[in-house]
Amino acid sequence: MSSSIEEIVKDTFDKEEESVLSDISNYLTLLFKWHDTNNIVSSSDVEYVIKREIYDSYEFSKLLTGSSISDIGTGGGIPGIIIAILNPNTEIVLIDRKSTFIDFLTIAKSELKLENISIVKKDILKASFYLSTDTVVMKNFSNKKISKMSFEKKIIHLMRIIKKSKRVTKAYMLTGSPVLELSKECVKEFDLKTSKISTPFFDTNRFVAEATFENIINS
Ligand SMILES: C[S@@+](CC[C@H](N)C(=O)[O-])C[C@H]1O[C@@H](n2cnc3c(N)ncnc32)[C@H](O)[C@@H]1O
Repeated sequence: MSSSIEEIVKDTFDKEEESVLSDISNYLTLLFKWHDTNNIVSSSDVEYVIKREIYDSYEFSKLLTGSSISDIGTGGGIPGIIIAILNPNTEIVLIDRKSTFIDFLTIAKSELKLENISIVKKDILKASFYLSTDTVVMKNFSNKKISKMSFEKKIIHLMRIIKKSKRVTKAYMLTGSPVLELSKECVKEFDLKTSKISTPFFDTNRFVAEATFENIINS
């Protein structure tokens, strides 16, 4: 018999307090309910999504600094909603260009009573796009325009777009092992630091690329 979302969440995040476990479970229950009709998460395998996508996002969240964080290409709110649940005093801005995700996120914000999130429907590749937070996160950001680029070209393209917003001082990408093979020029351009996300659930690990931007406007 398969376990319920609540049971898997309790098992996966065994050190967390009851209120966090309940917020994560409520979010995932809503996410999979919408997924049935709108395909808003990468897999229908609940245990896989919790132990890979959500657990990695949870570990990722611990590395973040900053008082305001934009999650670009947030989709169903991964990792932004997990960061918001774990950091109720941090302002989280969830950004996506697709209405399906925006509609889901609007309902999730209201049902989960997540007062620290705002939801923005925008195309981040438009020239007029501007980020107003000090920190940016992204996970699996992709679309037709950039999906054919090499990993390095994609990271350079995205980091240059983010860097145009002068308020942003840090950008973090939760990603795979290709981040270990970036050229020295790319690492230098964004002062990239890489760290491994530990997981007890899989043999493979995700990584975090942390970029630091100069020439900031101090707010
Ligand atoms: C593969 S999904 C990843 C979703 C989520 N971050 C995750 O890891 O489950 C990529 C997301 O990026 C969004 N996206 C793609 N291009 C975008 C753009 N130019 N501006 C804003 N969002 C975009 C898509 O709508 C989609 O939700």
